[in-house]
Amino acid sequence: MAGMAGVAARRRPGGRPEAMPTAGGGLSPEIRILDGGEPRLLTDFGRIDPRSLDSYRAHGGYTALERAIRHLSPEAVIGEMEAAGLRGRGGAGFPTAQKWRAVRATESDRKIVVANLMGADPTSLGDRALAEGNPHLIVEGVQIAAFAVGASEAIIAVRRDWQTAVERLRLAVDQTASAHLSGYLVLGTDVSIQLSVEEGSGAYVAGEETAMLAALGGDRGMPWIRPPYPTTRGLWGVPTVVQNAETLAHVAWILAHSPEAFASAGTATGHGTKLVTLLGKVAQPGVVEVALGTPLLDLLPLAGGGTGTVKALFVGGPGGGAIEAAALDTPYDYDALGGVGAHIGSGSVLVTDEATCMVDTARFFLDFSAREACGKAVPCRIGTRRLVETLDRILAATPRPGDFDLLRDLSRKMADTALCHLEVLAPRPMLTTLQRFPDEYRAHAERGVCLAGACRVEPVQPLVAPISNVEPTSPAAG
Ligand SMILES: Cc1cc2nc3c(=O)[nH]c(=O)nc-3n(C[C@H](O)[C@H](O)[C@H](O)COP(=O)(O)O)c2cc1C
Ligand code: SF4
Repeated sequence: MAGMAGVAARRRPGGRPEAMPTAGGGLSPEIRILDGGEPRLLTDFGRIDPRSLDSYRAHGGYTALERAIRHLSPEAVIGEMEAAGLRGRGGAGFPTAQKWRAVRATESDRKIVVANLMGADPTSLGDRALAEGNPHLIVEGVQIAAFAVGASEAIIAVRRDWQTAVERLRLAVDQTASAHLSGYLVLGTDVSIQLSVEEGSGAYVAGEETAMLAALGGDRGMPWIRPPYPTTRGLWGVPTVVQNAETLAHVAWILAHSPEAFASAGTATGHGTKLVTLLGKVAQPGVVEVALGTPLLDLLPLAGGGTGTVKALFVGGPGGGAIEAAALDTPYDYDALGGVGAHIGSGSVLVTDEATCMVDTARFFLDFSAREACGKAVPCRIGTRRLVETLDRILAATPRPGDFDLLRDLSRKMADTALCHLEVLAPRPMLTTLQRFPDEYRAHAERGVCLAGACRVEPVQPLVAPISNVEPTSPAAG
């Protein structure tokens, strides 16, 4: 089927394979939707044509918006988000109802909702999959958010290089305007919500909310110091709700189903489901939706299992942490992951095996953060680069005395002076691997040996001083 190369057939709970999307409705080849888990947002993938409003409506689309606008007050909509216990899926896990209340309570003639689809982390495909496979679900969530906070404008900000997502979201927005589902007098009521789609650069920091708002406002895409928070002074100085695309899709799902149905999956502090991108040393990389609280170990079969003996999972993308195989009973949940130096972050889980060097993988992530740092904060710009250089010395078996102390001290200082969370989180892959795989660091530094056999290490230079302090530290404290 043309354009369907990357879409795996999904099986419904009854075991019946789903029909594939109609022509033109497939996903980009790099996006594969995996079987299993607990599909909610992904339920209609393969059943609806993402380019068709009629198809979305035939599967219950826009009943949630209609319910909100015709039958609920804005406060009641916020109340449903609170009852559901919805927390942001863009990284920080902030309670959605709390954010909406703050914007609703702020006196202003003008308020704005911005959907964040900057998809800054290249290891995560969840938001892009949603935008390509079910764009109206995001659009519906955006409209509900706008209604709830009293915003008459909403912008869907999308990475420019996600052209299929951009096209489908634009089409969806145009379709809603033609059907009086957006624009002036939505559904014949006195509610007006003007929707637009804006394209942005694909830099990592461009997904940070204040950097994204600065770029949308015509400034350089760099974070600003908070306060002011976007909820009081956001885009063009106007109270702004910034919400991740997946969060907004859950908003529509909650109003269509119920807060109780949403909270029926998950943990005490993390309700609902989450899109997870499984990649690395797995048989079948892809995107799957799981209940929050699912043990990490249970994620692996969803990707066809590891291709070797699993050594560790890097959970949360460039700012995430490495969780060793012995700790894979850790629940995939905001609090539990935070307790082991990782986080949900962008929703990516990178699987490694015995042939993966932990030092080199930590360097990979750190180098990514160093390259993507916007440069506004000197400790971040210089600090991330110094950390990479230090790792390079360790990898090349040419460490300087005190290099291991330097890694930890510099990470701590960077966290203390950070302007945005990129800097706080960037050292985490390094700190967690240093804590959990000290032998790999030691072997590289002292003997020029890669215990995973993965790195081509240049001949060892004489060790200038004994390496000490490779004992564990708390990554959470980093
Ligand atoms: C470096 C960095 C990159 C980020 N990238 C994204 C992103 O691509 N998408 C996103 O929704 N949030 C991203 N965030 C988080 C946003 O700043 C913000 O917290 C989020 O969009 C709020 O939405 P939520 O409450 O629905 O999670 C990033 C944060 C940082 C520090
Ligand atoms: S902490 Fe880093 S990425 Fe964030 S604003 Fe400063 S330089 Fe830019």
